[in-house]
Amino acid sequence: EMTGKPIRCKAAVARKAGEPLIIEEIEVLPPKAWEVRIKILCTSLCHTDVTIWKLTDGPAAYFPRIFGHEAAGIVESVGEHVDEVKAGDFVIPVFQRNCGECKDCLSPKGNGCTKFPVEFFGGMPRDGTTRFVDSDGRPIHHFFSVSSFSQYTVVDIAHVVKMSRDVPVDKACLLSCGVTTGIGAVCKIAQVEEGSTVAIFGLGAVGLAVAEGARLQGASRIIGVDINPEKFEIGKKFGVTDFINPTSCTEKSVSEVIKEMSGGGADYCFECIGLASLMQDAFSSSRPGCGKTVVVGVEMHGTPLSINTYELLRGRSILGCLFGGFKPKFDIPILAKRYLDKELHLDEFISDEVKLDEINRAFDMLHRGKNLRCIIWM
Ligand code: APR
Ligand code: ZN
Ligand code: ZN
Repeated sequence: EMTGKPIRCKAAVARKAGEPLIIEEIEVLPPKAWEVRIKILCTSLCHTDVTIWKLTDGPAAYFPRIFGHEAAGIVESVGEHVDEVKAGDFVIPVFQRNCGECKDCLSPKGNGCTKFPVEFFGGMPRDGTTRFVDSDGRPIHHFFSVSSFSQYTVVDIAHVVKMSRDVPVDKACLLSCGVTTGIGAVCKIAQVEEGSTVAIFGLGAVGLAVAEGARLQGASRIIGVDINPEKFEIGKKFGVTDFINPTSCTEKSVSEVIKEMSGGGADYCFECIGLASLMQDAFSSSRPGCGKTVVVGVEMHGTPLSINTYELLRGRSILGCLFGGFKPKFDIPILAKRYLDKELHLDEFISDEVKLDEINRAFDMLHRGKNLRCIIWM
């Protein structure tokens, strides 16, 4: 019985930007009011971890830090005022906040949550302090309010979603970020209709989740764009019907090829890489007068977009979303049910599995664009 006491456990700590994580023994403090301490069962690596891990400065760069924001686990103990979950419950932590009581959580529009006035990038969402202590007694920063590259973590109740025990642990883990983001971008943000033509830039787990969402919505043509030619075969499992490799587009631009394939432009375009130039290409590939482009990738360099406003006047639009526009506590259980009903494919997103000690291998694989999701068992 560890309730109320620090727990010693293993965690993969990022000491410096872009350098391999170090497996260390750390202490995880007990949860304070409104907080939940979770025993992580498995976690997976999302490209956003890699993007932020590489940052050497700016408001989002904090070291030492425990990364990881896709995970599933069991509640170990809860702090004061937490009644939504109890010790022993199966949960997933999520970076997208959902307090359930602020103006935005109560509104059907969007998925923002404005419960906490200040954004603490390296600590707990209510007071910015940390719950991780290293072997020298120094604090280790949090990441995205989740920090799942640790055998135990502490998460605010606004970032916890209760899961059905019927969902296998590794599949539940997938629902806590990338896959959910892609599906939401299609179903909630773009609202793709049956018979549509969809173009997806980047067929990583997020882009393939967009394909999966488009397949579920009944899109008739799903065009994948990726510099890795192996992604076509993989994409077919998720409904990708056509493939463009930009490196072999020498005579025409990718947008021109998409326009030709779709008789003037795709109804819906999704950027799932995180490069402004590709967001621009996605917009150019959309149908003049009505095409919608959704920005899903996190721009890696902070480069702004320049859009010809005349194109907006004519009716093209560009949208964006975090977490696919989904409200975690409401929408994730619906996705879990669709998985259990064998409608939604999740198993196919898992390409590799490693143990916590081998976590740097997961970074190497994602870096080279070779894998989809690597499940890291704790
Ligand atoms: N043109 C086309 N495809 C590219 C390019 C490019 N210039 N650069 C990379 N890709 C492809 C890679 O080959 C890979 O298949 O984009 C895909 C990116 O996939 P992952 O690295 O697996 O990333 P993922 O986890 O899917 O995240 C994608 O969404 O959540 C955000 O921060 C995340 O911005 C990232 C994006
Ligand atoms: Zn809220
Ligand atoms: Zn993510």
